[in-house]
Amino acid sequence: MRKIVIAGNWKMYKDLEDVRAFCKAIASSLKTIDLGKILPILAPAYPFLALMQRELSDTPVQVAAQDVSAHAEGAFTGEVSAAMLSSLGLEYSIVGHSERRAMHNESNEIVREKLLLLMDNSLRPILCVGETLEQRDADDTKKVILEQLNGCLRNVSLYNADDIMIAYEPVWAIGTGRTATGEQAQEVHRIIRTWLMHSYNEALADEIPILYGGSVKPDNIAGLLAMPDIDGGLIGGASLKADQYLQMINIALESRK
Ligand code: PGA
Repeated sequence: MRKIVIAGNWKMYKDLEDVRAFCKAIASSLKTIDLGKILPILAPAYPFLALMQRELSDTPVQVAAQDVSAHAEGAFTGEVSAAMLSSLGLEYSIVGHSERRAMHNESNEIVREKLLLLMDNSLRPILCVGETLEQRDADDTKKVILEQLNGCLRNVSLYNADDIMIAYEPVWAIGTGRTATGEQAQEVHRIIRTWLMHSYNEALADEIPILYGGSVKPDNIAGLLAMPDIDGGLIGGASLKADQYLQMINIALESRK
């Protein structure tokens, strides 16, 4: 059975005090519940990665980066390399988020370079793909998703299901309060899983977690997790509140009973 991943993407929110308070609020509950196949992930801004690893060290939470440099090392002021993230002991990093693609002009080729650097440094990419509203309205969703997968994973070898996670995040659903319906998301998740099967093999396609992102919250996560190819959420806004984050973990636990 695949893992269920409840991943929080904190974007550029929370300062030191907020981060500490959040960790304190979730640590005691997460120490005591048996999470089984549920994997909680939280991606704070860079300055708080090490602190969060310490604060959550005796919980099952994996701390993740939100992005990584496309360069291995060098004179790149303000950038953070995959090797640096790896030296912290991190296991995951988001890559190719639509905000990076739109605001920082990240092409599939750049996302691919980042992804390869992460993998070279033993980090697991959480690769984001997703169509804009215009693309959906023009009936181009499948084409766009396949272009992103083909571009970002061109000649990328995957040997086991832990090597990568994919997050389907329709751009029109991010931060808008407008979630894809379970059926709309499932349709695209199926397209992604079928692509994985053709590009790799059935066993990998069966095991690689495919997360949904875009206005996921406690109210709608159960319906999404009920879909056969949705293996969790990449959650922005609703992951910023400790009680909502814990609530979504509990709903995920219930969904797998
Ligand atoms: P949202 O963000 O849950 O606030 O829509 C999701 C994301 O951008 O990963």
